[in-house]
Amino acid sequence: MNNDELTLVLSNDKILTRVEEIAKDLDVKYAGEVPVVIGIMRGCLYFLADLTQQIDLNIEIDMMSLSSYGTGSTSSGTVRILKDIEIDITNRHVVVVEDIIDTGTTLDYLREYFDTKKAKTVTTISIFAKEGTNKFANGADVVGFYLPDKFLVGYGLDYANKYRHLKDVYELKLADK
Ligand code: IMP
Ligand code: MG
Repeated sequence: MNNDELTLVLSNDKILTRVEEIAKDLDVKYAGEVPVVIGIMRGCLYFLADLTQQIDLNIEIDMMSLSSYGTGSTSSGTVRILKDIEIDITNRHVVVVEDIIDTGTTLDYLREYFDTKKAKTVTTISIFAKEGTNKFANGADVVGFYLPDKFLVGYGLDYANKYRHLKDVYELKLADK
């Protein structure tokens, strides 16, 4: 097919164990509430599915689609909404479910966006973050794993729409680089 090189970084079973922990923490944090869980498509696909199935609370699920990377592997630095949420989040507890934090631009943008929509609280959860991201003030409230600052694919993460469906997470080295 091609000669892109994939090196295993994190296995699916380790991810699932951590996802279970995150779900349990949410059950405690939002006991008696009905938060709106908002997945950021398409990278959140598997994380959103695995996480919400482990949550015992009543929740509502919505999705939003953003674009910041185009089809390349470096951030363009600007965030665009391709599809907005449909649930009215005014005065609701919002839990943002994201795939990975690199520069923090996306989550920074979303926090402000949900603030202007008058959410009661906004908690951001990213299953992955690049090592070093915690030095940014705009990291997530919850991070599943800090991973090497490489281009990663799998468990929802794509490169130009490819490799998203891989169960585990891999570092991608492009054949032509
Ligand atoms: P940030 O806005 O720079 O934090 O970038 C976050 C977004 O960029 C994520 O939602 C991902 O969609 C994408 N992204 C960042 N790093 C990677 C990566 O290593 N692989 C795939 N997508 C990534
Ligand atoms: Mg994304």
